[in-house]
Amino acid sequence: MMHIPVLTEELIELLDPKENENFIDCTLGNGGHANMILEKTGPKGKLLGIDWDADAIKTAGANLKSSGLIGRAILVQDNFANMREIAAKEKFYTIHGILFDLGFSTSQMEDAERGFSFQKDGPLDMRYGAANPVTAEKIVNYWSRPELERILKTYGEERFWRQIADAIVQERSLRQITRTRQLVLIVERAMQKRFLRSRIHPATRTFQALRIATNNELENLEQGLAAALSLVTEGGKIAVISFHSLEDRIVKRFFRDTPSLKPITKKPKMASPKEVRMNPKARSAKLRVAVKQETLPS
Ligand SMILES: C[S@@+](CC[C@H](N)C(=O)[O-])C[C@H]1O[C@@H](n2cnc3c(N)ncnc32)[C@H](O)[C@@H]1O
Repeated sequence: MMHIPVLTEELIELLDPKENENFIDCTLGNGGHANMILEKTGPKGKLLGIDWDADAIKTAGANLKSSGLIGRAILVQDNFANMREIAAKEKFYTIHGILFDLGFSTSQMEDAERGFSFQKDGPLDMRYGAANPVTAEKIVNYWSRPELERILKTYGEERFWRQIADAIVQERSLRQITRTRQLVLIVERAMQKRFLRSRIHPATRTFQALRIATNNELENLEQGLAAALSLVTEGGKIAVISFHSLEDRIVKRFFRDTPSLKPITKKPKMASPKEVRMNPKARSAKLRVAVKQETLPS
């Protein structure tokens, strides 16, 4: 299934792309948001689209081609934490807006071979970019018990971090843990009957923790935001769509604590009930936007 872009109306309204303006989409995915931005920035506005995932670059490229917008797009497969270097290499300047739509896409989640889903059996991979030397399998089998506990607790906000770390350490002393299904069973066993009362799948938080750790997501976000601040032109905007409280907290603080940024969303924008009905993934999406202030001559 194709990824459905979230909060599109809200994003376009706040980012407000205009004729001939240039944008960076740090998380191109299937190119849904990029397409909408390019539709507004003709005839000369350019878009630098970044994604860590080579498949995303391919799909987005094909989608932008079929909508006739590829001519104004530059697509680069890389980590957005390297955005400053990418923009310099592509000589991409005068940037009016930068967008982050964090996390994974539907295409990635639905591909069992990527290992993101606890509902499909696949290798414990979870990398966005194939060049990343860390995989979820390496973390589960080789990271120390305290490190496992730390990621379950802080990245997963998992109440049963101790029990789950215990169960992983016990299992890996017997055999290598290589499959998502194997990990789901370990988590279910560790939680025993506790999860029956929970509304979410018992492995949700464990998988979130592993995905964040595998991809170094929170550090990438901090570096990406700092790079975005240095690249965006005065009066330009930084927009971030996040999907869990850890990301949202980083964005909220960054906007609040950077003197040259003025948040234009006091409270984050969330999806309407209608959007959530059509696309349940939108339920947890939060959009925050800030404007880079013009520095007045002193
Ligand atoms: C929610 S999807 C974006 C969907 C996109 N906005 C659309 O409309 O189709 C998130 C994308 O961000 C990419 N991604 C996650 N972390 C990244 C990083 N550090 N650098 C570059 N891309 C990243 C993922 O590979 C994924 O394709």
